[in-house]
Amino acid sequence: MENTACLGSLRTHRVHSTNNTAVYSLQDQKARRIGLGSAPGGWSVHKRHIFPSELSDLLRSGVKQIKINLTVVGEPLSDNFYLSSVTVNPLWISGEPATIDLSSRTLERPHSENGRIQGDAILEKAHKEFKSPQEDKIEEEAWTLLRQAVVNYCGEPVGTVAANDPGDSSPLNYDQVFVRDFVPSALAFLLKGEFDIVRNFLLHTLQLQSWEKTVDCYSPGRGLMPASFKVKTVCIEGSDEGATEEVLDPDFGEAAIGRVAPVDSGLWWIILLRAYSKHTGDYALQERVDVQTGIKLILKLCLTDGFDMFPTLLVTDGSCMIDRRMGIHGHPLEIQSLFYSALRCAREMLLPDDGPTDLARAVNSRLSALSYHVREHYWVDLRKLNEIYRYKTEEYSHDAVNKFNIYPEQIPLWLIDWMPSQGGYMIGNLQPAHMDFRFFSLGNLWAIIGSLATEDQSEGILNFIEEKWDDLIGTMPLKIAFPALEYDEWRIITGSDPKNTPWSYHNGGSWPTLLWQFTVACLKVGRSDLARKALKVAEKRLSKDKWPEYYDTRSGRFIGKQARLYQTWSIAGYLVAKMLLENPDAAKILTFGEDLALLEAMSCPLDSNPRKKRNRKVQSS
Ligand code: GLC
Repeated sequence: MENTACLGSLRTHRVHSTNNTAVYSLQDQKARRIGLGSAPGGWSVHKRHIFPSELSDLLRSGVKQIKINLTVVGEPLSDNFYLSSVTVNPLWISGEPATIDLSSRTLERPHSENGRIQGDAILEKAHKEFKSPQEDKIEEEAWTLLRQAVVNYCGEPVGTVAANDPGDSSPLNYDQVFVRDFVPSALAFLLKGEFDIVRNFLLHTLQLQSWEKTVDCYSPGRGLMPASFKVKTVCIEGSDEGATEEVLDPDFGEAAIGRVAPVDSGLWWIILLRAYSKHTGDYALQERVDVQTGIKLILKLCLTDGFDMFPTLLVTDGSCMIDRRMGIHGHPLEIQSLFYSALRCAREMLLPDDGPTDLARAVNSRLSALSYHVREHYWVDLRKLNEIYRYKTEEYSHDAVNKFNIYPEQIPLWLIDWMPSQGGYMIGNLQPAHMDFRFFSLGNLWAIIGSLATEDQSEGILNFIEEKWDDLIGTMPLKIAFPALEYDEWRIITGSDPKNTPWSYHNGGSWPTLLWQFTVACLKVGRSDLARKALKVAEKRLSKDKWPEYYDTRSGRFIGKQARLYQTWSIAGYLVAKMLLENPDAAKILTFGEDLALLEAMSCPLDSNPRKKRNRKVQSS
């Protein structure tokens, strides 16, 4: 049986399996090395390691023996390598082809006093101790900069500014605390054990949540969370002595460039609330009446009925990280992936009032319809592309194959050559007679993190990124969207936006902040090797380049034309990626596994005949 798998940082190739024996050949490509050097305290050379959890999975699946043939590309292998913490004693393997008998080894791993698995802790320690001095310096600098970006309100930390470049005389709104930008800062502080700033942020943004509305000009809908806020010092009315006070001044998009509504803010807020509770164990916060009301208001705003036919959220252009005109109005993947994760977080956090409420029912049915819809209709790989290529059009029927009347001519020429034979991805948008085939990173990564994508699709997306490394990672992780809109497309779709010229900013620029989300997705799928490789690429330049907001050109070689320097989420994103790789378990505060109950309940109104449904109702009533 031919099978590929990934053991920790080594790509492995399963050659065959017989009863109780799995034979792997581990191919170490130079680029994938983790060079730890020699460790202190009696630990000799361990240049490679296999993570214990993956080994445990092997053991659980009945594998009793692993045969390892090491083939090193381009150089002889003489080092030992190290299978960490399967038992009290780590397993040492010499460079020779080896057979390891696992049958006598126990799955129980020793726990140290603080409850962490000893073997993992040893491994973490080894990583820490073998950080190069250069890496240490970069990390130290990043922490200093992150702390300098902290914003205080009434003497308490409440967030971080978007960018903190002392040389920038016109920061526009980059001196504000953006909700989406603060998420990696919050995670960095959580992982560091500093919880107050995150708690304060969650509670203060909750107070800013919109309570009024609705249909009047340029004011936010009830439940909307602001895109950003600023701490302002104002004179206290009626005070003679000119006394001042601090106030929080939110922006719901009514002052933002293009007046875009931040649909993603509320979703991020819910995702962060769950991460905070899981990490700190402070569940009392999410149970507070005002916090529960906040969650419900966001949900109600998202679940309100409209004219839409799809389970995906219908939004205007620029309603998320890409916050200006880029042709992503309709049902952009980024919003759908965050929506799905936020719904799953909310379902976990909502207190049962008295049995299942209408809201809980609405959340559940939206979750199953959404996951069916996205898995089925957003996914493209070579097979699906070929199917679309042969689509019949103008099918009027409930059983139409080409439900959205996609004309095969829409398949862009670049994609025909670009699509590899293995792997695939979720397309950027789906509307009647319209598929946006561009690759958007954030939406794809969150489809993995929240399990909106199936396990196969999640692996497929990461394989795809690996295959398209030069295009999507290049010299700086990670492209926000691929490919860039050029010529007439740029003119028509962006409205000739001079900031979004081809391969710049949102239009094919590379954004270092995406690295932390890439890392979470990689850890979830067991591909930490990819995250480490991307981190190394970023580490070469970020500090030297003064932590830019984004990079330009097809492979990300230039610092972005109008990129801010000392951009906080570039700094925090780097730190979070680093800390998560040292402590992979912590990523679980963000991820979700497959929900089997949802799978069973999966049904999609678009795929069934509504008349039949109505008839069923009539018959049963
Ligand atoms: C840009 C980005 C947006 C970010 C903001 C502050 O507008 O597009 O996603 O939140 O800058 O950094």
